[in-house]
Amino acid sequence: MKFWRRWTTSVLWVVVSPLLVWVWTPVPVVRAQDEADAAGGPPVCPLSKDQTQKAIDAFKALAPVFRVDRCINCHGDVDPFTEGDGGHEGGQVPQIRNEDGSVDFDKTLAQCSAPGCHEELPGWRLAPEPMSFVNKTDTQLCKQMRSQFARAQGTNSFMGHMKFDNDDTQFIKAAFKGNKAIKTAIVERPTPWTQDKMVELSQAWVDAMGGRFHGDESCGCEQQNYALHLDYNVIMNINGLPLITGEYNANTMSQGSNGLEVPLEINTPNAFEGQGVMQLQGHGGYATPIGGCVGQSQQSFLIRATAQLEEGDELSQGKDNKLHVKLTCDQIHFTSNGACPHGAGSANSFSPCQANVAADIAPANEGGSQDTVFPTPFPNSQATLTTTVVKKQ
Ligand code: HEC
Repeated sequence: MKFWRRWTTSVLWVVVSPLLVWVWTPVPVVRAQDEADAAGGPPVCPLSKDQTQKAIDAFKALAPVFRVDRCINCHGDVDPFTEGDGGHEGGQVPQIRNEDGSVDFDKTLAQCSAPGCHEELPGWRLAPEPMSFVNKTDTQLCKQMRSQFARAQGTNSFMGHMKFDNDDTQFIKAAFKGNKAIKTAIVERPTPWTQDKMVELSQAWVDAMGGRFHGDESCGCEQQNYALHLDYNVIMNINGLPLITGEYNANTMSQGSNGLEVPLEINTPNAFEGQGVMQLQGHGGYATPIGGCVGQSQQSFLIRATAQLEEGDELSQGKDNKLHVKLTCDQIHFTSNGACPHGAGSANSFSPCQANVAADIAPANEGGSQDTVFPTPFPNSQATLTTTVVKKQ
């Protein structure tokens, strides 16, 4: 019996050992020919946990300025065109219509800077609806600033708006002057805000993010959590060899949503790291002229993941970003058992492994993925690892 056990065990190894070949030999990895799947999800945010928290706190200090009546009145709180109480001290402003009944905006708005109205600032008008500040949380206002401005500094930037209204109509200056651009008006309610204070706090938010905008509109406004989803699939066709045929398949299907999710921490800007245990379930069998065997196996790999985000220009808004992912396999636990006509066998081992996988995901978007193809010892066989970036709650 001992002999059979040894025999079947060793034969079983013939079946399962090819599986070992791909992952624990540090073979150079064959990269998939096709381009990384450029998913259209939002770009990955490279800010560290700490940076994001500082940015959130900095925006929290700035947010109250958007609720100062001098600002919010033009940003959604006053409607001078409505009948009754639109909150406009000067009463209802008539909407001047074209012959076809549509509103003539130029003529309607021209009334705003007419003598006796906001005559000090020609072009006086309300901010459009998407720029409303009414009933918005700090986070919503933060995302609004991110989505209205493509960059933090320079021409047409966020800071450019806070400092000099992007050289456009000087609404902010007028707001801080506090006379509603009406010559005869007196400043009724002084505000503790000054433009210098607003600019300083705006700059502090930008500085907390490292001086520029990154990722999508939530980057720098909310904590972002990411994971790498690893889906591994091995199909070994044991054919084309003399005297032995069979098939052995192994995959990560049994491990929640078809694979392993490795949660990533961003402890330093642009650098992601995490680890997880990949469970690989295999089963299959083979036949020879003197009989065959069926068997199954379980392998678990301790996978360590690191990723470096290489950022493109701020204006490209993440389109030029690349995520360089490195996966290393540290340890393997392997158990297998098989049954043959003359006996059964099992194996159990624990060993270090040194396989490395490098995958570049470009652009570095949520949902972006890359296939890594490993060399297999048999023809018509394949071993593919799909690495996908996912966002976590
Ligand atoms: C006279 C009305 C008016 C006042 C007062 C005003 N704004 Fe605006 N604001 C606008 C208009 C109109 C725009 C649209 C863009 C433009 O033309 O500059 C705008 C755009 C903005 C934007 C661009 C992005 C966005 O989502 O809102 C910011 C930021 C902003 N204003 C902040 C302020 C702050 C802060 C104050 C108060 C200190 C203020 N505004 C006072 C009319 C006003």
